[in-house]
Amino acid sequence: MQTSLLSVKFFKNKLLNVAVMSKIIDEEIDHSKIVTHADMFSLFGKMMDDALLQIDHQSIIVNVNHAAVRLLGEHLIGASLTQRLNYSDLIKDIQQCFISNQTTEFAVTPSNNEYHHIQGKVTPFGNKTVLVLLMDMTQQHNLDKMRRDFIANVSHELRSPLTSLMGFVETLQNTPDIEKHMLMRFLHIMEEEAKRMSRLIDDLMSLSKVEIEEHIIPTGRVFIKSVIASAIDSMNNRALKSGHIIKFTDMRVYNTEEPIIRGGVDEMIEVFHNLIDNALKYSYPESLITIEMTDTISGQIIIDVSNQGEGIQEKHIPRLTERFYRVDKGRSRQMGGTGLGLAIVKHIINKHRGQLIINSQLKQQTVFRIIVPYLHTLMSSLNSANHTT
Ligand SMILES: Nc1ncnc2c1ncn2[C@@H]1O[C@H](COP(=O)(O)OP(=O)(O)OP(=O)(O)O)[C@@H](O)[C@H]1O
Ligand SMILES: [Mg+2]
Repeated sequence: MQTSLLSVKFFKNKLLNVAVMSKIIDEEIDHSKIVTHADMFSLFGKMMDDALLQIDHQSIIVNVNHAAVRLLGEHLIGASLTQRLNYSDLIKDIQQCFISNQTTEFAVTPSNNEYHHIQGKVTPFGNKTVLVLLMDMTQQHNLDKMRRDFIANVSHELRSPLTSLMGFVETLQNTPDIEKHMLMRFLHIMEEEAKRMSRLIDDLMSLSKVEIEEHIIPTGRVFIKSVIASAIDSMNNRALKSGHIIKFTDMRVYNTEEPIIRGGVDEMIEVFHNLIDNALKYSYPESLITIEMTDTISGQIIIDVSNQGEGIQEKHIPRLTERFYRVDKGRSRQMGGTGLGLAIVKHIINKHRGQLIINSQLKQQTVFRIIVPYLHTLMSSLNSANHTT
């Protein structure tokens, strides 16, 4: 009864305010004499996702919750917190807390042997100990940085075509008797720059849509061979111009029926459109682009989109699906690329509960492998997941 009452109070105070929490504990203990500090520490510690430690005036750790072990490692009891947390003013803050009997806040930023961003609070807990709450803000910090980088990237990508457009407008305004052929040339460049901005906005919309819906498994049935055929059809004209040949082969052995996956037709077309577009852009002219379909005994379809070209250095491979990441920015831009194609592919494949694996050998073959479950495999795994929950 005592405990559940306290829990309600605790939730009301949103779990995180240690100062308030400690006051509640003291009040309860003074009046009831039933619940000890150790009981309260254990109760609150379990309820919290943040690390909670009880330490003495010499900063020796007396008690910890599971989150503290996750953050600072095993064998904490008896160790000095100053040795486990690289924050030089910790002792000072702890002493200050004992003297003033007030909550003190601090922040730990990553350094040589500490890569977490931590926000901390120290608050008195009885006469001889203090509570230290450590909130791991690393993920939040990284998300903030990603958001800032993303905005900077978008602004940069939009600014360059915009600057070029404004330059041409100004030139045209200042040259009323411009020759016809020059005018046509300028208008052509302006059209290309405007198209680039429009492509960037389309890709950003596409990416944001698929990111928002990534957790929802699409409900449609996709006849994957006809999706690949239609992506090839839409790229064939370009392939003809550059002398490329795009060849599809169905090499499946375990299931030779029409392959169907659960998904969105337009999204899967977008995946193959992006991969073939890359294969055309980054391969040797007049080379062969192959799309090969195989399958596994466990009910997965494997589709390899391969091309012969310069290839990609290993260090770039893990970063290719990041937004705006390009191995050679200048070359990609020159080809009208925004660097969002593979980010879109990755999110669509995640949404379809599939995988994207990239392999490349320099000056040889580059393979983008997609692994997606057959419709029946996905349905039975979803059903069994439903039964176990
Ligand atoms: N088949 C490939 N061979 C070699 N490099 C590739 C291949 N596919 C992608 N890349 C590299 O990966 C980078 C990212 O590809 P992504 O498709 O995301 O962007 P992009 O092609 O530059 O622009 P966008 O797809 O938005 O038009 C490319 O800039 C290129 O450096
Ligand atoms: Mg691309």
